[in-house]
Amino acid sequence: MITLTNLTKRYGDAVAVDDLTLTIEPGRVTGFLGPNGAGKSTTMRMVLGLDRPTAGTALIDGRPYADHRYPLRKVGALLDAKALHPARTARAHLRAMARTNGIPGARVDEVLGLVGLADAARRRAGTFSLGMGQRLGIAGALLGDPEVLMFDEPVNGLDPDGVRWVRELVRGLAAEGRTVLVSSHLMSEMQLTADRLAVIGRGRLITDAPVGDVIAASERRAVRVRGPHVDGLRALAAALSARGASVEDVPGGLLVRGAGIEEVGETAHRLGVLLHELSPQEATLEEAYMELTADSVEYAAEADR
Ligand SMILES: Nc1ncnc2c1ncn2[C@@H]1O[C@H](COP(=O)(O)OP(=O)(O)O)[C@@H](O)[C@H]1O
Ligand SMILES: [Mg+2]
Repeated sequence: MITLTNLTKRYGDAVAVDDLTLTIEPGRVTGFLGPNGAGKSTTMRMVLGLDRPTAGTALIDGRPYADHRYPLRKVGALLDAKALHPARTARAHLRAMARTNGIPGARVDEVLGLVGLADAARRRAGTFSLGMGQRLGIAGALLGDPEVLMFDEPVNGLDPDGVRWVRELVRGLAAEGRTVLVSSHLMSEMQLTADRLAVIGRGRLITDAPVGDVIAASERRAVRVRGPHVDGLRALAAALSARGASVEDVPGGLLVRGAGIEEVGETAHRLGVLLHELSPQEATLEEAYMELTADSVEYAAEADR
């Protein structure tokens, strides 16, 4: 479990993380989302003791990172995949990490196999592609068989196979009861990977909720109706608009926002409008996310403002 309490980080006048209170529970994947510069990486660095909080605390199972005797056996992290010695081989890099944490050397070859780098074990890390670097970083995170895992943008540079592999790996780790925190800016991928979302903007918590709840709260969610009689649909659209819903014409029917499916169905019934379809249209996580973070995007294009 990761516990952030009033966690704050300032760099000079700039606030990178602003009074963040959040618990990341075991047994599920928590997606850590936010626009560029929201403070995700800074938060993860503070959990790992790489950055000192200006105020507040970041604890792993109730203690700061540095207070764990063998930190790599408690928490594994992929933060910056390029943070390794380019002249070292993949195996030498992991062996050095293992030695300082009392991890047996045999575990190195095990994790190299797990991430699909067994054949590249003797290659210098500096010659690795971005995707191979990510895999080596993930191997390092898994090395100590830790209960808590943090992955910062783990699918950057991975091909579709690699993306899927990370998704299954991360879901598997949570299913084993581990605490898993994954940041990403790929919403479609997060919708498939995460159970719960912590969304931040400008260092502040915007939402902490199950993925399904975040999507259900979106104003983009709609009800679609189709019917064979244009006049009937017109009458339905007028009645729903009069009740404050927003109604859009779509081929063969209407898309209604701001009214529940019961209200749409009952209104059609009252007006005697024949329907061939009455269906809920879920928003995508991307749409829900855009609404949530609209006010906190640091580098929005002028046209978006
Ligand atoms: N070492 C640093 N010195 C000064 N500002 C920093 C430093 N690291 C991060 N920041 C600033 O803190 C904010 C949060 O950055 P970061 O945690 O990297 O965001 P994210 O990972 O969500 O994109 C940004 O405005 C960034 O410019
Ligand atoms: Mg980052």
